[in-house]
Amino acid sequence: MQQPAEKVTTPQQPETPARTGHAEREVLIGVRGLEVGFGPKTIMKGLDLDIYRGEILGFVGGSGTGKSVLTRTILGLIRKRAGTITVFGKDIDRISEAEHRLLERRWGVLFQHGALFSALTVKQNVQMPMREYLHMSEELLDEIAMMKIEMAGLNPDAADKFPSDLSGGMIKRAALARALALDPEIVFLDEPTSGLDPIGAAEFDDLIATLQKTLGLTVFMVTHDMDSLYSVCDRIAALGEGRILAEGPIATMLASDHPWIRAYFHGKRSRAAAGEAVRAGEEE
Ligand SMILES: Nc1ncnc2c1ncn2[C@@H]1O[C@H](COP(=O)(O)OP(=O)(O)OP(=O)(O)O)[C@@H](O)[C@H]1O
Ligand SMILES: [Mg+2]
Repeated sequence: MQQPAEKVTTPQQPETPARTGHAEREVLIGVRGLEVGFGPKTIMKGLDLDIYRGEILGFVGGSGTGKSVLTRTILGLIRKRAGTITVFGKDIDRISEAEHRLLERRWGVLFQHGALFSALTVKQNVQMPMREYLHMSEELLDEIAMMKIEMAGLNPDAADKFPSDLSGGMIKRAALARALALDPEIVFLDEPTSGLDPIGAAEFDDLIATLQKTLGLTVFMVTHDMDSLYSVCDRIAALGEGRILAEGPIATMLASDHPWIRAYFHGKRSRAAAGEAVRAGEEE
């Protein structure tokens, strides 16, 4: 088992730029020995996971294995039973309320369910985190919200629409705009392309990849979408039996002999996605 203390940036050290692909990559989030449960039910036990700066980490696992629970536990929304979680080098159990609020400004979240407030327009939704964490004029709030809305690939006229007037793809983009509101360093996306048609999903994937490159974002993406796993994820972690079954690039997943991973990555959907990825590579 790896020791987090050696890899995590300590508070005294300056944060280093993205070094994805190098041996000593900076760990933005380190999870060790995590145990989470509800009542008599244990959802995860002894779970270890690192998220490196600058990477797009795809997170897979069967339905109900705890992907959303892990995300919410890292965000501090679910209480863990045991283990440590370090975020930007700080143990979240050892920081003050004020420090936690500062942390919350450094991440953005696109939740699996209830992505937007239905009574607010898209622009108001995007402004919510800014109103909560920053003090700025209405003019600036408007200006920044419009920038985020465009960044997420939405037409400016979507800003004054309510979620009920938007398509599924537009809602995901609006939720992404809100996740980007505070210029986060890391975004958590819980199944961002579920419910989108394949073209909409592919466009969303391209958007994530572009944002990751241009903003230097770190992305933690829960997904069932094989195309996303092949085309945009630098690394994949698979959750099952309450722990990480395997983690690494797609090749590691394809070589795994764990029955669930084999079934998942050697199934029909995976083979189709692999074929697409090869064709896309040949076209470049
Ligand atoms: N607040 C809660 N109280 C009790 N049980 C919960 C709670 N939240 C989640 N669970 C349970 O934890 C387990 C993991 O749920 P989770 O939503 O994380 O699954 P998931 O891997 O995200 O699944 P999916 O792919 O369907 O989204 C499920 O059995 C779920 O019923
Ligand atoms: Mg989920």
